Amino acid sequence: MTERIYIFDTTLRDGEQSPGINLNFQEKLDIALQLARLGIDVIEAGFPVISRGDFEGVKMIAEKVKGPVIAGLARATKGDIDAAWNSLKKAENPRIHTFLATSDIHLKYKLQKSREQALQQAVEAVSYAKKFLNNVEFSAEDGSRTDFDYLCQVVEQVIDAGAVVVNIPDTVGYATPDEYGDFIRRIMERVPNMHKAILSVHCHDDLGLAVANSLAAIKNGARQVEGTINGIGERAGNASLEEVIMALYTRKATYNKEVGIDYSQIYRTSRMVSSITGMPIQANKAIVGKNAFAHESGIHQDGVLKERTTYEIMSPELIGLPKINLVLGKHSGRHAFNERLKELGYILSEEELAQAFTRFKDLADRKKDVTDYDIEALVRDQIWTVPERFKLQYLHFTGGSTVVPTATVGLIGSKGLVEEAACGTGPVEAACNAIDSITGIPGILEEYKLNAVTEGKDAQGEVVVKVTVGNLKILGRGLSTDVIEASVRAYVNAINKAAHEIIKHDEVHKGGAVPDGNDNN
Ligand code: KIV
Ligand code: ZN
Repeated sequence: MTERIYIFDTTLRDGEQSPGINLNFQEKLDIALQLARLGIDVIEAGFPVISRGDFEGVKMIAEKVKGPVIAGLARATKGDIDAAWNSLKKAENPRIHTFLATSDIHLKYKLQKSREQALQQAVEAVSYAKKFLNNVEFSAEDGSRTDFDYLCQVVEQVIDAGAVVVNIPDTVGYATPDEYGDFIRRIMERVPNMHKAILSVHCHDDLGLAVANSLAAIKNGARQVEGTINGIGERAGNASLEEVIMALYTRKATYNKEVGIDYSQIYRTSRMVSSITGMPIQANKAIVGKNAFAHESGIHQDGVLKERTTYEIMSPELIGLPKINLVLGKHSGRHAFNERLKELGYILSEEELAQAFTRFKDLADRKKDVTDYDIEALVRDQIWTVPERFKLQYLHFTGGSTVVPTATVGLIGSKGLVEEAACGTGPVEAACNAIDSITGIPGILEEYKLNAVTEGKDAQGEVVVKVTVGNLKILGRGLSTDVIEASVRAYVNAINKAAHEIIKHDEVHKGGAVPDGNDNN
């Protein structure tokens, strides 16, 4: 029988550790729901002890996402494990994932512990977690750089303590495929009780080898593979799950493994994660990059037209890549618009549809051809947001090489329409200054990205900004055929999200407290 590989997604934990990513509850929940649709086996929803936001995020996902196992990360301490359990306990299928570093370099410099002390702590942590539930995973952080005999001892003893999954991370992305595959094979052979647990791998991409290392490990006995969508994560990121999944599918004869994935959800999941996190996908990225299925050279185009498999090893339809064609215009009706949305994978409520249709009509008045990319951008802009406490009513700006850039902005808030004018080094800064005076929530613009949604002079510009408000780091998104307006909309969106987070934080603060973590790991 073909062996099953379990896919463990840590986009919301290791992925969220990418510099500059900071997701709100709704964004985390939307990603988790999409991961469930994709058929992920285990969703690591966060690191509950690390912050109130993480704790509440894991709790909400545990309550609302049905199907996959929901995991929460915990260092090997009682405080962390308590927090993980408190956030996970309402899940249909919870898992506590506890970890401790085992390499000499981490033991000596980070933990100042002997091997014996760490072994004892790992066993105690697993035994403690087992008091709450059966499904406990243990990770030997920096496992690939850990002394082999000692690592085998740790693996054996945590399995005896009840770990049902043992993970051997290549935490710093140092391993190479031959070496790591061999390491995994030797663990499988050496640890006498290995058959009682699933061996898992978790590879980082510092040398660009995370996917290759994960596949080498699967070839040598690993049965769970951890990674993230689009490969986001700490430093150079984690193994890109869509690449691992498609390698297993496309090279079935080589690996002979099964996964529980709905392949048609891959493209959509990737786009959603990129949009929500603000981490763009490079055009030549395997599987989900814009050029992954584009054939530029005449020889290749000719070959593909004669027989697709001459230059295509996977079919774009399999991963749910929509056929991009010119679709709708200003004469298109609501029914056609809704049908197109459904084909693209978006099921909107009546209210959302009405709002999206109005925006589509506005766009069709300004832009001749409305493509699938435009429609997707509209939906992204509309659904991954928060209630608008401040709504952009109008924007006027002047700029040029011989005038001081000035902007006048009108925002509708709880006090009705408030207007302000301000100057800046350019019209975007001028408008942001005016917005700060109106809202009283000053933001610092840390990052700014502008992307043309389609080709052509009338293309919509999609702006993503990262804004710091106090100690919050917020991502804002704005869309318009006018790039200054798109920039201002992105900034207002970030300020709205900040206001939402501040109010939500105050509400949570008045409610129950999050258990305290013990920071001695
Ligand atoms: O990279 C790593 O070692 C980790 C562990 C916490 C699993 O992310
Ligand atoms: Zn990691």
